[in-house]
Amino acid sequence: MQNRVYLDNAATTPLDKEVLDAMLPYMSNHFGNPSSIHSHGREVRSAVEKARKQVAGFINASPSEIFFTSGGTEADNCALFSSVHTLGVKRAITSKIEHHAVLHTLEQLAKEGAIELHFVNLDEKGRVVLAHLEELLASGPRTLVSLMHGNNEIGNLNNLEAIGELCKQHDAIFHCDTVQTMGHYPIDVQKLNIHFLVGAAHKFHGPKGVGFLYINSSVKINPLIHGGSQERNMRGGTENVYGIIGLAKAMEIAYSDLEGHQNHIKAVKAYMIERLKESFTDIKFNGDSDNLDGSLYTVLNVSLPESEDNDMLLFNLDIAKISCSGGSACSSGTGIGSHVLAAVGADGNRGNVRFSFSKYTTKEEIDYTIEKLLAIYPVESH
Ligand SMILES: Cc1ncc(COP(=O)(O)O)c(C=O)c1O
Repeated sequence: MQNRVYLDNAATTPLDKEVLDAMLPYMSNHFGNPSSIHSHGREVRSAVEKARKQVAGFINASPSEIFFTSGGTEADNCALFSSVHTLGVKRAITSKIEHHAVLHTLEQLAKEGAIELHFVNLDEKGRVVLAHLEELLASGPRTLVSLMHGNNEIGNLNNLEAIGELCKQHDAIFHCDTVQTMGHYPIDVQKLNIHFLVGAAHKFHGPKGVGFLYINSSVKINPLIHGGSQERNMRGGTENVYGIIGLAKAMEIAYSDLEGHQNHIKAVKAYMIERLKESFTDIKFNGDSDNLDGSLYTVLNVSLPESEDNDMLLFNLDIAKISCSGGSACSSGTGIGSHVLAAVGADGNRGNVRFSFSKYTTKEEIDYTIEKLLAIYPVESH
């Protein structure tokens, strides 16, 4: 019997067995509170600090620049709220295709009257128009730029070097949501002009509910969560110890064979593009996602032919034992469609599906998915 096929790795990835093994002792024997000064506490404190050092090492940061959080959303919120409230930022520039963790936070800040919010222009594929960013940066008060590295829905990749350079020239603060690329691309903060970066363990085979915020040592901000003195007064609350241990282990596995994983996943994505093109007469891709070298290799956003049954597409794929995700392209701006697909002008009458891959995805699973898609779509579209 066919096992279920999991093609929703941009939503979350399965936990690696080795990560679970590293975490288990911290759910049983090593239960001390890292803030306690007795030996139960001290052994756990030392494991947390070792994890911090490891995480910092993978992005070439200093351990004092790493702050553990409950995940990507909290890290984004902390960076955005705190830079506006602490660094004298009066204006923010972002894009219409950011994750809601960024968009809703900036919209809230704008609603409170704390910032003026601007959206950088995107081209027809949803890529940031750097000339427009430069134009926006050239005028106005101190600015926060929040542009993601890899887009979670359509896989567009931003050029962090170029954006960082523009921010440097205009003395802007640069926050980058790297949730989809952390653990999937080499990131070296020494080579980038970035003030804030974000990671979430569950996107690279780590546990859910844990992540981190990198804060460049040149910026000093107030905490988002007030309480005890954990995380050097930046984030009160007893640490998610086993989560932190799992995060560091997952990062170690991700970066120990980054190229191997990249090559495997890229080949799977290229194979799916090829199989879709040969199977359907009318196939398109949303955003930049079929640009093999220029987009996130884990994400492929497919625009399948028009069909009366497209409303049921994800449901039908689920029945066929395939887990993936979608989001209708809501162009009216009133419905609850995907704001990203709407921003790149995706055709809402077509079947828009995001397939996202991991190191565990196989070409056989892609063949199975194509077979099921062909069964779902009328023969005229083959
Ligand atoms: C680009 C991006 N940013 C932020 C988040 C939020 O991360 P978390 O679920 O860890 O809060 C996600 C998760 O889907 C994401 O894809």
